[in-house]
Amino acid sequence: MLVLGIETSCDETAVGIVQEAGTGEARIRANVVATQFEEHKPYGGVVPEIAARAHLDKIDDLVRRALAEAGVTLDDMDAIAATCGPGLIGGVMVGAMTGKALAAVSGKPFVAVNHLEAHALTARLTNDVPFPYLLLLVSGGHTQLLLVEGVGDYTCLGTTLDDAVGECFDKAAKLVGLGYPGGPLVEKAAVGGNPAACDLPRPMMGRAGCDFSFSGLKTAVRLAVMAQPQPLDPTFVADMAASLQHAIAEILADRAGQAFKQLERDGKKPSALVVGGGVAANSAIRSGLTALAATYGVPFVAPPVALCTDNGVMIAWAGLERFRLGLTDGLDFKARPRWPLAEMKER
Ligand code: KG4
Ligand code: ZN
Repeated sequence: MLVLGIETSCDETAVGIVQEAGTGEARIRANVVATQFEEHKPYGGVVPEIAARAHLDKIDDLVRRALAEAGVTLDDMDAIAATCGPGLIGGVMVGAMTGKALAAVSGKPFVAVNHLEAHALTARLTNDVPFPYLLLLVSGGHTQLLLVEGVGDYTCLGTTLDDAVGECFDKAAKLVGLGYPGGPLVEKAAVGGNPAACDLPRPMMGRAGCDFSFSGLKTAVRLAVMAQPQPLDPTFVADMAASLQHAIAEILADRAGQAFKQLERDGKKPSALVVGGGVAANSAIRSGLTALAATYGVPFVAPPVALCTDNGVMIAWAGLERFRLGLTDGLDFKARPRWPLAEMKER
């Protein structure tokens, strides 16, 4: 079974092709990603209109490159999948329309993929993780703890009350002058810093429930920066990066710990703690979660970094998981700016 997947919901234009031989063995046949880093850099963040136009410019070439990389044609596909939400609507429309057009001309079934579902299912491609599992989804737009019980079967255990964790990394990076995108730059700057140097709050930590909050942390960084002489001393920047990363790693491990406790109370036994989304690339966060999973006696599963950040392979894989259950969609499926995972069951 061969499925092509298209991703255009944020600032990466990406196409992936995944194969599954029916033996449970899955293979990545193509993975091409064009980042829009240069287009958005002057603005310090993603500009939706620029993103949509850049997707439009790049998508045809990426589809051609993915087919060439896999050495296949559209006729070899069993289905065409595309992200149909949630995300920046102009970009989502570009990918969804491209996917539908390819499905129409090739006569192949179309699968409308929820971007969050694709992040949620990636660990099944890379590590064959069985349902149910606990998923911590941490990206630039989302911060959620989910119980994944099957394809399309997601229960949200907790979410952020304000900013997403990736947004907190990105905004804090801007405040200390590290630039965009912030997460990887904070991780790099943190290498030489002292994680105990800056006294930062840990919002929601120790509280009942599994929700998150990051706006107070961002404000604390802003106040600390304002109290410093300008330009900022590189030692301060390194210490702040290390302290912020440490605070976030502690918060995420605490909230995921609450989720384990809640599942225990509900009599549910997850097979693993899985992490997904761009922030999952962070190694301090990964080590905090590895320790937590060990205390609950389950493996910690983190897909390779290139598959944690936005990519077309995860869309192809989610499309394949749906397609083999007979879940396909009409070409009238509308792109959605908002599409919570909890609404997947009512699709
Ligand atoms: O999943 P993703 O590629 O895009 C969506 O938001 O859907 O996630 C991007 C986010 C950005 O906020 C970026 O700063 C963050 O992931 N990120 C990181 C790291 N790499 C990417 N945050 C912390 N540490 C990293 N190494
Ligand atoms: Zn994403």
